[in-house]
Amino acid sequence: ERSLLGLKHLSSAEINWILDRAAYWEGQTEKVIPILKDRFISNMFFENSTRTRFSFEMAEKRLGAEVLNFTASSSSVEKGESIYDTVRTLESMGIDAGVIRLKPIGLLEELAEKVSIPLVNAGDGNNEHPTQALLDLYTMKQHFGELKGLKVSIIGDIKHSRVARSNLWALQKLGAQVKFCAPVSMRAPELERHAPYVSIDEAMCSDVVMMLRVQLERHAGAGIMSSAEEYRLNYGMTEERAGRLSPHVIIMHPAPVNRNVEIDDSVVEHFQSRIFKQMENGVPIRMAVMERAMRH
Ligand code: CP
Repeated sequence: ERSLLGLKHLSSAEINWILDRAAYWEGQTEKVIPILKDRFISNMFFENSTRTRFSFEMAEKRLGAEVLNFTASSSSVEKGESIYDTVRTLESMGIDAGVIRLKPIGLLEELAEKVSIPLVNAGDGNNEHPTQALLDLYTMKQHFGELKGLKVSIIGDIKHSRVARSNLWALQKLGAQVKFCAPVSMRAPELERHAPYVSIDEAMCSDVVMMLRVQLERHAGAGIMSSAEEYRLNYGMTEERAGRLSPHVIIMHPAPVNRNVEIDDSVVEHFQSRIFKQMENGVPIRMAVMERAMRH
C-alpha cells in the first residue's frame, strides 16, 4: 500500500519505518536529493493550510519532484466541479501522486478506490491528519528516545480534532498512554472507550502535554465556548500552569495557535515548548511519506 489515508489501520512496523526514514532525511546535509526526479505530485487543498501545504511542497522539492499546487478557491471547484472530478482531471494529466486535504469525512477512501495513483491524506474533516501525528510522534521520540510507556495528555477540542484522533491511534499502537482533557462540549463520545478523560491538573502531570486549537470555525455559533477567557482559565496552558510543569515535560500544539486561548502568548516559545520544532520536523516526515508513496 502506497497511499496514506490514516494511522488507525497502519501497522506499527509501517509507522516505525516512516519515523526511521524521517531521521535519515533529517540527517542529510544536501538540501536536494532528487530521488523523485521526473515524478509529478499535486498538492490538492480543498481546505486552507499553511504548515501542511508548504511542508509537503518543501519535502517534495527536496526530493526533486515536480510540484503542482492546486487550491480550491482559485479552481473550477468554484464553478461547482466535484472533488472527484478534480482529482480525476489531475490524474488524467499524468500526476504520479496526490496530497489531499478535504472537509468531508469518508470521501478520501472512496476517492482512493476510484483512482490509480497513491493519495496522501493532508487532513480530512475531523477524521485523521496522519502526517501531523507522525511529526508529533517524531518530535516526542526525538526528545524522549522512545514512545513506549510515554504518558501523553491531549487537551482541548477533541471533538473537532483530526490531530487528536491520528495521535490516539498511533501513540497507542506504539505503546504510549493517552489521556484526554476537555470540557463536556468538546468531548468525542465515540473515543471515550479508547482513552480516559482526566482533570486539567492530572493532564499536566504527563510527559507530553499537547494543546489543541479551539476550532472556532467548526463551532458555527453553537455556544460551545462561553468565553475565550473562561476556556483559557479552565483548560489553557497559562503561564502559571507552564511554570508548574515538571522540567522534563514538553508542550506541543499542532498550530495554528489561538494565542491567549488554549496557550498563553508567552508560552508559545517557552523553553519546554516544541511547537516550532514540530513544524521543522514536518519536512523530513513528509519526505519519508512521499518516498513511501512513490516506491514501486
Ligand atoms: N497543523 C496544521 O495542519 O496546520 P495547517 O492547517 O496550517 O496546515
